[in-house]
Amino acid sequence: MSILNTLDTLADTAPPQIQATTTLQELEDLRVQLLGKKGQLTDILKGMATVSNEERPLIGQKANHIKTQLQDALDQRKTQLEAAAWESELQGDQTDITLPSRRTRLGKRHPTNQTLQDVIACFTRLGFSLKEGPDIETDYYNFEALNIPEHHPARAMHDTFYLNTGYLTTGHVLRTHTSPVQIHEMEKLEPGQALKIIVPGKVYRCDADVTHSPCFHQVEGLYVDKNVSFAQLKGTLSHFLKEMFGAKRQVRFRPSYFPFTEPSTEVDVACFKCSGKGCNLCKQTGWLEILGAGMVNRNVFRSVKLDPDQVTGFAFGLGIERIAMLRYEINDIRLFTENDYRFLEQF
Ligand code: PHE
Repeated sequence: MSILNTLDTLADTAPPQIQATTTLQELEDLRVQLLGKKGQLTDILKGMATVSNEERPLIGQKANHIKTQLQDALDQRKTQLEAAAWESELQGDQTDITLPSRRTRLGKRHPTNQTLQDVIACFTRLGFSLKEGPDIETDYYNFEALNIPEHHPARAMHDTFYLNTGYLTTGHVLRTHTSPVQIHEMEKLEPGQALKIIVPGKVYRCDADVTHSPCFHQVEGLYVDKNVSFAQLKGTLSHFLKEMFGAKRQVRFRPSYFPFTEPSTEVDVACFKCSGKGCNLCKQTGWLEILGAGMVNRNVFRSVKLDPDQVTGFAFGLGIERIAMLRYEINDIRLFTENDYRFLEQF
C-alpha cells in the first residue's frame, strides 16, 4: 500500500476510535498511539525515505492535514469527557445534612471587662458619672499634685515607668494609678460645684509576678461637695461591696496611709473561701484586701485651688483584676492577657 493510502486509512479509522473512548485516560492512551513519537503517524512517515521527489510534498501536506484533524477530534472528545466527568461528580455530590457544621466561636466578654462593667453599673446607680483620663501623665499629675513630692518615700510604692523617649520632655510617666484624674477633674470645677465621678482605666507599674501585672485596671472614685463625710464614704463602699460580693459578706475598714487622703483606710471583705477562718487565699487572715480609700487630703484641694475649709471629699481606688481574681478564684494574673480560649470560655 502506498503511503498516501495508508494515510487515508488512518484518516478514516482514527475518528471513530476517538469518539469511542469513554475515559480521559483511554483518550490519552489513544492520542499517544496515534500522534505520539512512536505512534502510527510517525510510523507511516518513516516510509518517506523511499518515495519520489514529486510525491514527497504531497505526502507532507496530507500528513500535516491529518495530524491537525486528529488533534481537533482529540481535543473535542476531551472536552466532552471532561464535561461528563464533572456532571457525574455533581450527581454524586449530594448534601449530607446529618454532617455537623463548622461553628464559629461565639465571643464572650472578658472577665476583666465583666467585672469592670459590674463595678461601673453599681456606682452609676449611686449617682456617680463616668470620666476618663490619659495613660501618660506628667510627674505633676501622677505625684506632685497628689501630695507626693519628689523624694517622698511613697513614690517607692509605685514602681514607676518613666518615659524619656526623646519624643516627650522628661517628667512624663505611665500613670501608676487613676488618681491623677482626680486632679484633672477638680481643676475644672467652678466654685460651689460638686463632683461625683468614677474613673475606670489602665494603670502601669514595673512589677510582674502571679499577682502583679505591669498593666492592669483600676477604678477611681471621687466625691467632692460641701459636707462629704467619712460616714458617707463607709456607707457608699459598704453598699458597693455587698452588691459585688453578696449582702451577707462582712466588710471592715482598717486604718492605712495614702499621701492624697487623710484619714486613709483600706477596706477588706471576709474571705470567700473560708468565711473568716483563715486559708491560703486570705493568707490565714480571714480577710481579703479589696480597695484603698480616704478623705481627700487638704493639700490636694490646695493644689487644685479649692479651699479646704469650704469643700470636703472622699476618694477610693480599686484594682479590677484583683476583684476578678477573688471573684472567680483565679490564681495567676497572667491568665487575663494570655487569650487562651480554655480560660476565657469559663466566664
Ligand atoms: N491610688 C491608690 C493606689 O493606686 C488607691 C487610692 C485611691 C487610695 C484613692 C485612696 C484614695 O493604690
